[in-house]
Amino acid sequence: MALEVRAIEEQDIEETVRVMKEAWTYAHETWGRGFYPEEAHEFDMAMNNMERFTAAMENEHGFFFIALVDGRIAGSIRGEIFGESGYAMIRNIAVHPDHFRKGAGTALMRHALDYLKARGCHKVSLNTTRVLVPAINLYLRMGFVPEAYLRKQWWGVDFICMSLWL
Ligand SMILES: CC(C)(COP(=O)(O)OP(=O)(O)OC[C@H]1O[C@@H](n2cnc3c(N)ncnc32)[C@H](O)[C@@H]1OP(=O)(O)O)[C@@H](O)C(=O)NCCC(=O)NCCS
Repeated sequence: MALEVRAIEEQDIEETVRVMKEAWTYAHETWGRGFYPEEAHEFDMAMNNMERFTAAMENEHGFFFIALVDGRIAGSIRGEIFGESGYAMIRNIAVHPDHFRKGAGTALMRHALDYLKARGCHKVSLNTTRVLVPAINLYLRMGFVPEAYLRKQWWGVDFICMSLWL
């Protein structure tokens, strides 16, 4: 198995939108249902589109990497650095269920953290929920710690802010 992580390019966007939609549909059905409202999931799904992914790719403060398993897009990570502040947020990471447990999630996160370090960032955060257990395990393994409990945050749902000091 060949695993590669690299920056997204224009010709990857259509396939990445498809992969992310399927990944998040699976995640919602498997872990989210009953905790994360259906309307919230549908809203998020509508955000997976060519225009938004193109804008994320072109954002001068953004980063957007894809993982390829044997040459096929298996997952992605994206986020942004807040100007010159040295603080970054990961907005989204997901791997398609066909490629779970092959190291793609770890490789995406490692790539993003190396990139942020090289850009001089001192801290990175992300928001997650307690039902996304595989993701929380991944974050803890990479050194993130729960920093804040965000009670009734988006859609009235409790989130957890996890951070890593680089
Ligand atoms: C979280 C996610 C990206 C991990 O992707 P992956 O490619 O399977 O991850 P890896 O193969 O690199 O596994 C890394 C670690 O994650 C944890 N993990 C992954 N899947 C897990 C599962 N089903 N149960 C428990 N822990 C799990 C483990 O600690 C694993 O290390 P190990 O295999 O040595 O035990 C993937 O499960 C996913 O896309 N989930 C749905 C979307 C999501 O929740 N995104 C985060 C939103 S905040």
